[in-house]
Amino acid sequence: MKFRRQFFLIIFLFITFNGFTVHAQQSSRVTSASGQDSATMNKFLSDLLGRMTLEEKIGQLNLLTGEQAITGSSVNKDAEGKILKGQVGGFLNIITVAKIRKAQEIAVTKTRLKIPLIFGLDVIHGYKTIFPIPLALSATWDPKLIEKTARIAAQEATADGINWTFSPMVDISRDPRWGRVAEGSGEDPYLGAEIAKAMVKGYQGDDLSKENTLLACVKHFALYGASESGRDYNTVDMGRSRMYNEYFLPYKAAIDAGAASVMASFNEVDGIPATANKWLLTDVLRKEWGFSGMLVTDYTGINEMIDHGLGGLQEVSAKALNAGIDMDMVGEGFITTLTNSLEEKKVSEKDIDRACRMVLEAKYKLGLFEDPYRYCNEQRAEKEIFTADHRAFARKVAGKSVVLLKNEKQTLPLKKSGTIALIGPLADSKANMVGTWSVSANLNTAVSLKEGLEQVGGSKVRILLAKGSNLMQDSAQQTRGTMFGRTIPRDDRNENEMIKEAVAVAMKADVIVAALGEASEMSGESASRTDINVPQVQQRLLEALLKTAKPLVLVLFNGRPLDLSWENEHVPSILNAWFGGTESGLAIADVLFGDVNPGGKITASFPRNVGQIPVYYNHKNTGRPQNDKHGFTKYRSNYLDASNEPLFPFGYGLSYTTFGITAPMVDKKVLSPGGTIKVKVDVKNTGTRLGEEVVQLYIRDMAGSITRPVKELKKFTKIALMPGESREISFTITEEDIKFYNADLAYVAEPGDFKIYVGNSAEQVKEVDFSYLKN
Ligand code: BGC
Repeated sequence: MKFRRQFFLIIFLFITFNGFTVHAQQSSRVTSASGQDSATMNKFLSDLLGRMTLEEKIGQLNLLTGEQAITGSSVNKDAEGKILKGQVGGFLNIITVAKIRKAQEIAVTKTRLKIPLIFGLDVIHGYKTIFPIPLALSATWDPKLIEKTARIAAQEATADGINWTFSPMVDISRDPRWGRVAEGSGEDPYLGAEIAKAMVKGYQGDDLSKENTLLACVKHFALYGASESGRDYNTVDMGRSRMYNEYFLPYKAAIDAGAASVMASFNEVDGIPATANKWLLTDVLRKEWGFSGMLVTDYTGINEMIDHGLGGLQEVSAKALNAGIDMDMVGEGFITTLTNSLEEKKVSEKDIDRACRMVLEAKYKLGLFEDPYRYCNEQRAEKEIFTADHRAFARKVAGKSVVLLKNEKQTLPLKKSGTIALIGPLADSKANMVGTWSVSANLNTAVSLKEGLEQVGGSKVRILLAKGSNLMQDSAQQTRGTMFGRTIPRDDRNENEMIKEAVAVAMKADVIVAALGEASEMSGESASRTDINVPQVQQRLLEALLKTAKPLVLVLFNGRPLDLSWENEHVPSILNAWFGGTESGLAIADVLFGDVNPGGKITASFPRNVGQIPVYYNHKNTGRPQNDKHGFTKYRSNYLDASNEPLFPFGYGLSYTTFGITAPMVDKKVLSPGGTIKVKVDVKNTGTRLGEEVVQLYIRDMAGSITRPVKELKKFTKIALMPGESREISFTITEEDIKFYNADLAYVAEPGDFKIYVGNSAEQVKEVDFSYLKN
């Protein structure tokens, strides 16, 4: 982290405050890393550390949970007593200024050293103004826009007392069975890295000590998205070449962007759980990448190593500290065992000091020593949360995240007149618009699709509503998918009766909008699925509605790529709406009525069936690549019963207009060290509406010292064009764009031949060649 300070005299002050003596940092307005400022901070921290007892130091490593979002079976007891004894470094999951102030008051008025607490929360895609889930945000392909969502989230969260968010989640995943694909940016490391940087910038700004910035926490380090069989918390097994070339980039990009904290993941990495993996946490993260911030476990990550089979609590806690962990989330392994481990020489005081310094440093950077109540301003809470501006922006972003998967008979956009039959279990749910996490949101403030259609459609549109089916056939499964107040009341009626009623409603309408798919909690943490179809009971409803022969639009709610093979075959228009946040009902209506032209592009391949998983665009060629994209050839790497290609490829998404992209042209055929190649294409809006297109550039390294992917995204740009308008787009290729980690994990550019592909999805591309020569 880089620092600069506006007021540079930092001394230990003993200020009399409410009759108590407070130990304060005079000013922490540190904005860059001038040696002078780091030196001042270091002196402050060294002096403080020098006055701390061993117990107080270990106390700083203890992160307890409040009651807002419990994600494990453990919770912490007697928080107040522990703060008083100096046994707490901070909290997660306490919400509202009043509660946070109360806890902070105990720490800074009633403990010996008056060290302030830090307050964390999962502010994942907004605080009260909820933006689309991260997978949907990534479908905007607009890092600037995403940065602004993070900025607003930080503004709102800090106005409510929070100064640390457990975001961004940058885990690459190629497995839509894994519920947490909803929380990341999809399957591509380059796009993931661009978004990771943007989010860190949005949260942290350029000065962490400002009252409206907070610490970002890059998670889950590392490889959490590669869990076997897409089952959450499951084993990960991956070679280092793949880690470095395909999974590490977004974590590293977030660190390079200055992320002030990192969370270790639950999974193992090369046989050792990340939480105790010294190679990962110290050699790679700290030494190779130069990370200098605070390293926290995931929720009871230390304790879980007992079940991983690494030993008892004392042993695994010592392992975590020795591997480089600074803060222990919820499990209290550090606080209960480190003293003994020190006596038994299983850990060193040096490591405890290191961890404690990291925690104190985070607090210092936030300016908490200067003013422990910096984030406890009730007036800000009143004025800066869920504002009209924030909501308007959330509506815009949600509209941009929607992906038009199919629009065969130009069913869309809809006319703002006539009768719409709005049918499905998700047609009128507010709580299920926001998506996973959103722990701080007021679910009643979300706009449902029905409300959105009514508002945007205006007085000439009549909406007829029918539920048509339950969310799931199985009531236990329905309950699991609609937790945390996001219920969809279950209808006891017989399935056929519900369908019959819906069909009758449909018959009275000009067009059917079927609002189907997953509920909010069917993706996210601990929400893996082996069947990623639209639930069967809803599919039966859809079949019946299609039989009416009325024009039909499927509005799909989903936190993951679903298997839409059946829908793609039978439904003329499919709008992938994800979970768009509090304003999502309005945003979907904007798109349905054509006020907004959809421009989102999927960032994770949609498979044809679960058997294809993992299916991703940047795969290797193999020694027996398929001969025919959709056919079968014996003794080639393909399936007897399905194509190798996903149903919808990475980067895919339609618009109400059409675009033409010319074949790429290069200004030279040879790239030299230090040189550049300019790649140009002309993009034309060939349709009749203003629209946005994402122009994507991929590179293939034709031969390398290790096998290379068939395509890798290297550049992209999003442009808006008027009907008939053309624009020349150019990209500059440098050595950086062809570099990779070789068998020795050296980052190299190897001479040879390359292909450049440019187009509007990973599949829809045109190509040109170039070579890279060293001299
Ligand atoms: C999740 C993290 C989250 C943490 C704190 C864990 O269960 O894996 O992503 O930040 O809980 O809520």
